[in-house]
Amino acid sequence: MNILTFRTNDELNIAGASIITSLVQTNPRAVLGLATGSSPIGIYEEIINTFRKNMVSFRQVTTFNLDEYVGLPKDHQESYHSFMNRQLFSHIDLPASQANIPDGNAADLAAECERYNRLLEDAKQIDLQILGIGNNGHIGFNEPSHSLISGTHIVELKEETREANARFFNSIDEVPTHALTMGVGAILKAKTILLVVRGEGKAEIVHRALTGPITTECPASLLQTHSNVVVLLDAEAGKYFA
Ligand code: F6R
Repeated sequence: MNILTFRTNDELNIAGASIITSLVQTNPRAVLGLATGSSPIGIYEEIINTFRKNMVSFRQVTTFNLDEYVGLPKDHQESYHSFMNRQLFSHIDLPASQANIPDGNAADLAAECERYNRLLEDAKQIDLQILGIGNNGHIGFNEPSHSLISGTHIVELKEETREANARFFNSIDEVPTHALTMGVGAILKAKTILLVVRGEGKAEIVHRALTGPITTECPASLLQTHSNVVVLLDAEAGKYFA
């Protein structure tokens, strides 16, 4: 595991974006696993800057997002469809047909999970999976539990996750109670995992996840079993690694 701590957000963003854009430069047909949330935003901005300088093209890239809320209209500004369009997709040349996000409004959610699993299987392997970490150690929306699910599935969000995400909504009552998420099997199958963590509030959980016991009660701790993980931390999130 390669754990890098950065003094400034700019440095972290440039490092994260350059890992992704170099991959796409050398492998134009790369398969990228994408995350939403606040952690990757600065990296997406840097990717857009690199694209605008004509240094990279996403025309042949395929992307898979980790998760989507259930029942939130696609055009709601906090749906992960809207987030991805706003933060990345509308600024680069990735064809919409190659950007995959689970459909949290599908009439049959179980069938939608199966559809997403099949797409992932057809893609064979994600070359690089971006992850953030939840305050409770979740990755994607794989919440702490006695057991974890390998494939894409419906999950009931923990109260602490809804509370953490309430900052994006008018009130916690508006935060959906369920989501569709890629399972830990698909995440851990990725060739490379890029975990991005910012802020003092995440210092303890990221340290526990990466150095503590490997347990389904802290899903991010499973990253310890993966042979190719790069962790980008800002100074605050990285304070226990100093
Ligand atoms: C987002 C996702 C979540 C977030 C995590 C951290 O697609 O799957 O696991 O990565 O909740 O969120 P932020 O970055 O907002 O702290």
